[in-house]
Amino acid sequence: MQVQAFKDYQELSRKVADQIASVIRKKPFAQVCIASGHTPIGVFKCLIEDIKNGLDVSKITFISLDEWLNIDPTDPGSCISMLNKDFFDHVKLRKEQVVMFDVNANSVAECARVNDLISTNGGLDVMLVGIGLNGHIGMNEPGTSFRSYAHLSNLAEATRTSGQKYFQKPTVLTTGITLGLRHFAESRLPIVMANGAKKAGIMSKILNSKPTEDIPGTIVHNIPQALVMLDEEAAQEIDH
Ligand code: F6R
Repeated sequence: MQVQAFKDYQELSRKVADQIASVIRKKPFAQVCIASGHTPIGVFKCLIEDIKNGLDVSKITFISLDEWLNIDPTDPGSCISMLNKDFFDHVKLRKEQVVMFDVNANSVAECARVNDLISTNGGLDVMLVGIGLNGHIGMNEPGTSFRSYAHLSNLAEATRTSGQKYFQKPTVLTTGITLGLRHFAESRLPIVMANGAKKAGIMSKILNSKPTEDIPGTIVHNIPQALVMLDEEAAQEIDH
């Protein structure tokens, strides 16, 4: 694992985008998994700019990290709605270039479908994730096995509460469907991105503790190729 800290969110976003763009340039058929939520919005802006400036994503497969179950995909708070608004709507992609969990299909079959698709195409080249205040990655909540692939997740109380920020009205969040921590560990370039003072506590906890399934983010200690990319605010409590 390597930790990198940058001056502010703008610089952090640019550096994360550079990492992803570099993979895309080297491997035009790459499989790129991206999180939704607030953290990667700046990265998407940079990538959109790169694409306008000639970065070729015409053969890339983008895989959406996770989705709320029991929430209509057209709800502005769904993961796919956020990704559409912040990224996909701004980029010319064919339908088959975007892989997401279909929450209206059988969930167990969906996990198998997405697992198969990823492995059949040679694994993930990049997996960009944010971090939850409880250390979750995707919807891999505390207690999730580090060996998990795609699965259904019983959302932690903290996630049910913090997830409200994405919705226009109070919304009951109970369950999610998510890629697993093993996908993260097996990805060729797994990136944890965090910004802002709100993430400082959990990032120092993650970086100062041994790997434990009680704090999913600590899996980074087991992954030599993992990048933890922070802005100064999120890095402020890390012991140097
Ligand atoms: C989103 C996701 C979540 C978020 C995390 C941080 O697809 O899987 O794990 O990455 O909760 O959320 P933000 O970025 O909104 O602070």
